[in-house]
Amino acid sequence: MSFISEQLELRKLPELGFNKTADLEARRLEIVDILSDNIYGRTPNFKSEVRAEKTFGHEKCFAGHAFHRNYKITVTTPGGDYSFPLALSCPKSDKKVPLIVYISFNPETPSGFTPNEEICERGVALAKFCYTDITADRYDDFATGIAPLFPRDENATNNWGKLGMWAWAASRALDFLLTLDLFDADKIAVCGHSRLGKTALWCAAQDTRFKYVFSNNAGCSGDAITRGKQGEDISVITKVFNYWFCEKYHEYSGDAISDMPFDQHFLLAACSPRKVAVGASSLDIWADPESEYLCCAAASPAWEAYGLPGFIARDDRYAEVGESFDDGSVAFHNREGEHSPCRADWKAYIDFLLK
Ligand code: GCU
Repeated sequence: MSFISEQLELRKLPELGFNKTADLEARRLEIVDILSDNIYGRTPNFKSEVRAEKTFGHEKCFAGHAFHRNYKITVTTPGGDYSFPLALSCPKSDKKVPLIVYISFNPETPSGFTPNEEICERGVALAKFCYTDITADRYDDFATGIAPLFPRDENATNNWGKLGMWAWAASRALDFLLTLDLFDADKIAVCGHSRLGKTALWCAAQDTRFKYVFSNNAGCSGDAITRGKQGEDISVITKVFNYWFCEKYHEYSGDAISDMPFDQHFLLAACSPRKVAVGASSLDIWADPESEYLCCAAASPAWEAYGLPGFIARDDRYAEVGESFDDGSVAFHNREGEHSPCRADWKAYIDFLLK
C-alpha cells in the first residue's frame, strides 16, 4: 500500500463530502461554517468601508524597475475607525501584475522574511502588513487593536479569535489594493508563515477574491492533519494560544478529537477550487511535515469533485527533502531546513503563481 493510502486509513478522517453533492459551493460554505463554529470563530458580518492615505512613496525603487509606497489604511468598524500601515512594492508594468498579500510578523523592514526585490523582479507585487498592528499577539482579553471594536457574545463559544482578526485585516487590505487597478484578478494570493500561514488559509477560505493561498509551515490547526499528528496538538495549542481560536476548539483536546467534525483538510478544501500551496520544512517536527503532506492529499477530492486535478503526488509516496509537487491545484514542497520562511519557499510559491 502506498504511503498516502496507508496513512490516511490510520488517521480516520471525517469525509469532506464534496463528492456527495451537486452543489459544491454550498458544501464549501458549510465547511466554512463548521470551521467558524469549531475552530476559528465567526467573523463578524460587518461591511467595513476602507480608505487609504499614502504616507511614503519611492517611485524608482530597485534600479527604477519598481515603486514602493507605504499607506495608512483606515477601516470602519462597529466601534469606530481603525488604522494600520500597509507597504506595497510593485513592479512597473504596462499590464496588470500578480499580487501577494503577505501577513507579516515584522513591522515594515526591508527584509522581514520578504525578498521584495526578487519578488518584483519576477513581475509580482508584494503588499504586506504586520499582524500585531491589527491586534496584539497575546492574551489580552481582546482589549487591543480591532478586537474591542467588535461586539462579543459572552455566552457563545464561537466568538472569533485573533487568527480570524488578522485574516479579516488581510481582506480589508485587499479592499484597498483593488482600488489601485494594478493587479491581475486571477493571480491574487494571500501568504503567511506559521501562525500567519494558518491565518492566510482561513482568510482565503472566507474571501474568494484570493485565488491562491500560500501556507508556509502552518502546522497544527493550519495545514497539518491533526489526527495522528506528531509535535503540537490541540491540547497544547489551546493552552498556550487559546486566544487565536474560538472557545469551542479546546473541547477537542485529547481523545475528544474523535468527535471533532472536521480536520485540517477541511480548511484546504474550503479554498477550492482555487489554488493552495503548502510549504513544509524538513526539520519542523513541531508542525509535522508528513501531516502537512497528508493534509494536501486528504483535501484533494474537493478539487476532483470540481473536475480539476487536486494534489498530484509522485508515485503515491512522501516527498523527498527538496522536492516540490506542484502539478495539481494543490502544491506541496518539502524544503530542507528549519521552521522559517526563506528564499526557496518564495521561489516555490512564485513558480506556482506564475505557472
Ligand atoms: C508556535 C506555535 C505554532 C505556530 C508557531 C509560529 O510554535 O506552537 O502553532 O505555528 O508558534 O507561529 O511560529
